[in-house]
Amino acid sequence: MKNEAEIRIVPLTTEHLSAVMKIERAVFRDAWTTTAFLELLGFSDKCWAVFAGEELAGYLVTQWVLDEVHILNLAVAPSTQRRGVATQLMNFLLSLSRRRGMRDLFLEVRVSNLAAISLYEGLGFHELAVRPRYYPDGENARLMHLHLPDRAAGEPSRTNGHKTGELQG
Ligand SMILES: CC(C)(COP(=O)(O)OP(=O)(O)OC[C@H]1O[C@@H](n2cnc3c(N)ncnc32)[C@H](O)[C@@H]1OP(=O)(O)O)[C@@H](O)C(=O)NCCC(=O)NCCS
Repeated sequence: MKNEAEIRIVPLTTEHLSAVMKIERAVFRDAWTTTAFLELLGFSDKCWAVFAGEELAGYLVTQWVLDEVHILNLAVAPSTQRRGVATQLMNFLLSLSRRRGMRDLFLEVRVSNLAAISLYEGLGFHELAVRPRYYPDGENARLMHLHLPDRAAGEPSRTNGHKTGELQG
């Protein structure tokens, strides 16, 4: 059985930024700058830090527009990867989105990022389109989408079996 990390999700604030930047630079070749994070934190309160014990294990940055959730950044520290952290964080987002009446989630991912694509597909996302040369190095992006069913209409919800926390947000 997978050694799933025990996590704690809190709103992302500027005090997390130096630890965030360490992860960001370790996992992305086109890492966001501190300024980019600061700008986003200035207008989005839908950004979360995730802790495993005392250590910052990852973060999730989203923007909510009408009933759409746009996932702008998601990363897990290399030392904590493959322990269900991203799945728990995404299930937290899906649960919160449902409770707040959001209907659609969107994200872009590099076509070569098979780990992330597998994560998103496991949560029910599917490819909506390919955005040619979306990244600065010319790589294409997959635009991925998840429609949240209207529970009142009786449509079944879908997760990949990991626990879904009703956490703050
Ligand atoms: C993608 C990423 C966020 C996944 O985080 P994680 O906490 O390791 O993911 P989880 O442990 O919840 O894994 C969930 C599923 O994702 C897929 N997955 C995750 N890492 C994988 C890998 N290295 N190879 C293949 N599949 C992988 C698997 O389907 C996995 O399910 P399984 O472990 O039951 O097989 C992490 O690898 C990361 O930070 N990568 C660099 C940044 C990035 O690519 N962010 C996404 C940008 S769109």
